[in-house]
Amino acid sequence: MLNEKDYDYKVSAAGRVNLIGEHVDYCGGKVLPAALTLKNTVYVRANGTDKINLSWTDLPDKVTLEIGKLDSYRDLKYAKYQAGSAYFWQKAGHEIIGCDMVQDCTVPFGSGLSSSAAIEVSTIAALATVAGEEFDPVEVALLSQKAEREYTGVNCGIMDQYISACGKAGCAVLLDCKTLAREYVPVELGDCVLVITGSNKPHNLVESKYNERREETEQALAALKTKAEISCLADLSPAGFEKICGVLGGKVLDRARHVVEECERVRLATAAMRAGDTVSLGALLNASHASLRDLYEVTGKELDALAAAAQSHPACLGSRMTGAGFGGCTVSLVKKDGLKDFEAHVAKEYERATGYPASFYDATLGDGIIAEKIKK
Ligand code: GLA
Repeated sequence: MLNEKDYDYKVSAAGRVNLIGEHVDYCGGKVLPAALTLKNTVYVRANGTDKINLSWTDLPDKVTLEIGKLDSYRDLKYAKYQAGSAYFWQKAGHEIIGCDMVQDCTVPFGSGLSSSAAIEVSTIAALATVAGEEFDPVEVALLSQKAEREYTGVNCGIMDQYISACGKAGCAVLLDCKTLAREYVPVELGDCVLVITGSNKPHNLVESKYNERREETEQALAALKTKAEISCLADLSPAGFEKICGVLGGKVLDRARHVVEECERVRLATAAMRAGDTVSLGALLNASHASLRDLYEVTGKELDALAAAAQSHPACLGSRMTGAGFGGCTVSLVKKDGLKDFEAHVAKEYERATGYPASFYDATLGDGIIAEKIKK
């Protein structure tokens, strides 16, 4: 049993839901994620050694990392996220001191709600805090992304780590992934709420398929650059894209069209949210899911069944997969007064279609990093 008072600091970082802007962060697009109250919390205390001792509240494992050898833990199952983050923090010139860390994660693993980003970001923030260093959350996010890419092998964009570090309660962040400029957008949905539903389909092939999609978008960009002065796919408007997309063919054309149109949907969805127009917002969520299913091909049977079950209920204004895809969660915009009936309907229809139960996560929009000294 964890006794908080045995530790000096409690440092957490958030899981996330992406409202819209899927598979566009690594193409220089804008995204609209929000941090969740589901998070990874690190309890930490200095131990006067040259080692980081790791344990978990919900795993029996105990792992010791030597501070001088942080590059050598890439094969560890769970601790590679902590080791990778610590390694890149150290490589960027920050001091790491010996410490004991207990990790407590309420973001369900493999749920597509970014447990890995929450773990990476909170680990770096905890290492900085216990060493008495003030940290810049954006630097923490960038080094966490580096860890995910170069240590664990997923060539991810910046969205997850950024929102995990910089999220703000009650808000989504409109993040420009090309410049890292951000705007906080209050999520005020009138008579509606966001519902996050898990497919309970374990993430499968995410790494290889994710990296494959990235390569396809890079191929598209190289071909389109012969026709237009662009630095990323997000530089093209849908109309500009249609004029020059003849240089693309097959799947690469579909992938690029998804990216360009999804960027436009982010713009429209942000405007709809600011105007309190939940009907338009819902329609954009549905269109995003259809594009991820038909053009980007990252949904799969279970996420399609889950989104379809949600979309078929009268209280639902829109529903889409969120995150990388290939399993994971959907996010739905649902009228409060029909919420109970909506959940019963989705649970029944989804299980009938796939054999998996649906999970409804009890989460609201929370803060990014929270670092606190534990009172004794
Ligand atoms: C994963 C990645 C993100 C982003 C999403 C898809 O969550 O970590 O960078 O690309 O997939 O939008």
